[in-house]
Amino acid sequence: MTMRLVRTELVDSREILPGQWLQSFHAPALASGTRAGQFVHVRTGDLSGLVLRRPFSINTADPVSGTITIHFRTIGRGTEWFTSLRAGDAVDMLGPLGRPFEVDSRSRHLLLVAGGLGMAGVRYLADEAIRDGRQVTLLFGAASARDVYPSSLLPDEVEYVIATDDGSVGHRGFVTELVPEYEAWADQAFACGPAPMLAALARLAAGRRDRLGVARLGRRRGAGRTVALGSPAARRKAFLQVSMEQNMGCAVGACLGCVIMGVGGAPQRVCREGPVFAAEEVAWDSGW
Ligand code: FES
Repeated sequence: MTMRLVRTELVDSREILPGQWLQSFHAPALASGTRAGQFVHVRTGDLSGLVLRRPFSINTADPVSGTITIHFRTIGRGTEWFTSLRAGDAVDMLGPLGRPFEVDSRSRHLLLVAGGLGMAGVRYLADEAIRDGRQVTLLFGAASARDVYPSSLLPDEVEYVIATDDGSVGHRGFVTELVPEYEAWADQAFACGPAPMLAALARLAAGRRDRLGVARLGRRRGAGRTVALGSPAARRKAFLQVSMEQNMGCAVGACLGCVIMGVGGAPQRVCREGPVFAAEEVAWDSGW
C-alpha cells in the first residue's frame, strides 16, 4: 500500500500504565493496508496551537473494525496534546511509512523482544504471526512492575515472559539475559527498544550459529546466495530483525535527521530504509 494522508477519528483513549497511553483511531485506509513494523507520522497541535508532527509505530491494526492503535508515553507538548483529545476528534496521519518486518514462510517459532515503549514496535507482529499459525514468545523488559505492559492487552496465544531491572516482577535483570534460553527454539527474532538493548541482541544473534552448531534456516536457504542489503529478502533471511527507535523530523526521507550507520559506512535513514533492519545491516559500534 502506498503512503497517503488520512483523516482519522479518535475512538478510544486510555492510560494503560502511568504516563503511557493507548489510543485507537478509526482509519480504514490505514487498517487494511498496514504491515507490522510500519509507522504513521501524525500531525498534532500543542496546547498553544503550534503544529508538530510525531512518528508512532502502528501498534495494532484491525481491518474488520477499520481501526489502528498507537501506544506512547507523554514526554512533551506534542504527546500531551493527544491526551486532551476526545472521542470523535479528527487527527491527520501520514502512512503507512517505513519498511515492515519480514517473516520467513518456514519460521514456526517467533521470538519477540521488547524494551519499554519498544512494545509498540513489535506488538502488531504478534497478531500477524498468530493469525498465520505461528507460535510467539514475547520477552519484555521494563524498569519495574509498574511499567509492565498488561498481559490482558496481548493475544492469549502469546507466551509472555517479563524481566524487570528491580526484580519486582519476573526475571531480575535485563531482558536480553532471557534470550539464550530461547535461541534454539526460535526460528527468527524481532526486537524493538533502546539502542543498547538492540546492540546486545545483535551480538547474541551473531554468536548464535556457533553456539547451536547448526545454522538451521541458513543451511536450508543455501548460505552462498547473496541478497541485496536493505531488501525484503535480506530481512527475511536474517535471524534477528530490529525496529530502530530514532528521533525523526520529516519522516519521508528528506531531512536526514534520522540517520544511523549501516555496515560498510552507508548511512541509513530510519524513516525510509528502516525502521526495520536486519541486525547485520547495522554498524552497531559506530556511535551514530
Ligand atoms: S526523518 Fe527526515 S530523513 Fe528520516
